[in-house]
Amino acid sequence: MSVGVIGCGSMGSGIAQVAAQAGETVLVFDTNSEAIKRAKASLEAILSRLVEKERITEDKKNQILLRIEFVDSLKKLSHCNLVIEAIVEKIEAKQSVFEMLEKIVDVNCVLASNTSSLSIASLAKGRLHPERIIGLHFFNPAPLMPLVELIPSLLSNAAIVENIRTRVAAWGKTVVLAKDTPGFIVNRVARPFYGEALKMYEEGLAGFQEIDQAMREYGGFKMGPFQLMDLIGNDINYAVTTTVWTQFYYDPRFKPSLTQCRMAEAGLLGRKSGQGYYSYPLNDDLTAPLDKAKAKFIFERIFFMLVNEAYDALFMQVASAEDIDLAMQQGVNYPKGLIAWGKEYGLPTVLAGLEFLFEEYGDDRYRPNPLLRKTAKAI
Ligand code: NAI
Repeated sequence: MSVGVIGCGSMGSGIAQVAAQAGETVLVFDTNSEAIKRAKASLEAILSRLVEKERITEDKKNQILLRIEFVDSLKKLSHCNLVIEAIVEKIEAKQSVFEMLEKIVDVNCVLASNTSSLSIASLAKGRLHPERIIGLHFFNPAPLMPLVELIPSLLSNAAIVENIRTRVAAWGKTVVLAKDTPGFIVNRVARPFYGEALKMYEEGLAGFQEIDQAMREYGGFKMGPFQLMDLIGNDINYAVTTTVWTQFYYDPRFKPSLTQCRMAEAGLLGRKSGQGYYSYPLNDDLTAPLDKAKAKFIFERIFFMLVNEAYDALFMQVASAEDIDLAMQQGVNYPKGLIAWGKEYGLPTVLAGLEFLFEEYGDDRYRPNPLLRKTAKAI
């Protein structure tokens, strides 16, 4: 039985590659013929590069390409038993694709969405078989990032969810189970990495280069927050934060930054526009003179907020501690899982830091999570 992929932009073509590399036959549909042409060319180029690097043989490359068929009609997905949609992030468009699909595929076909911000419940609602609708959230670029968040809705069937977990794990992915809540695991827990960095920068506590350097050198992160925002795109990153904040009923923990809003409005989007916090191609010197005490101050403020957020996700039963830690390491390359790292660093220190910030600002944003507090006090 084949896997169907709908939408062959950056995510859809990556997902198709992952499934085909694992031996699945894949049918890809997109409404835009130009997108199909681009996806074909890019797949060919990516696989040729893998051959050059001797990661796969020419033979294997050809087998993979043979397993991916681009089709010109949704109807051709009738024999799939799993369809993953990766079309525009618009609820009406996704609902309409699922509505069309349920008239085409067999009742046993699982319908998955790669959405990063819509609730799975809202996609399952009104479907003939809502129990087979799930979220399957890959990370960009899908062939390189090991993580997949698997999100059942309130209406999903547990056996279907388990089957998909096994199938996607067999594609070589690390599958974590996440509750159908805003941002799932990664896009929720990672918010302070950007938000607290932006806040310190806005307050003039540190320059963006200093913040990036502190997080790289003191914190061991591969990239600093401003480098990463430039890579993701300041418009996209701002939109994700705004969505998570809105969906959490304006919880101040997720409040977006005006600085980032203005960057997006000004078209200073980052790498894709040639200018964000840094200029591209990168010719700025990324290193700034930074003393260790300041680096520690910068790192701790962001780190304490990250640990608090990871504990909040655990407290609210979004996922298990193990899955929260795996997700941050394999979805966004964090050097360690935040729950384990918080314990290693000392939860009483984390708690004291949060209490200090809460007192200093009188802002609910800094309220320590009850589970973090309880765990810290028990140490
Ligand atoms: P994209 O804009 O690169 O590609 C979307 C593709 O879907 C386009 O080729 C478009 O022609 C096609 N499309 C639009 N409406 C369609 C329809 N009704 N039927 C068939 N094809 C249709 O978007 P991208 O970045 O690949 O994202 C796709 C989805 O994946 C979105 O839901 C996004 O939120 C999610 N996602 C994106 C990530 C990213 O970093 N770009 C990461 C994880 C999830």
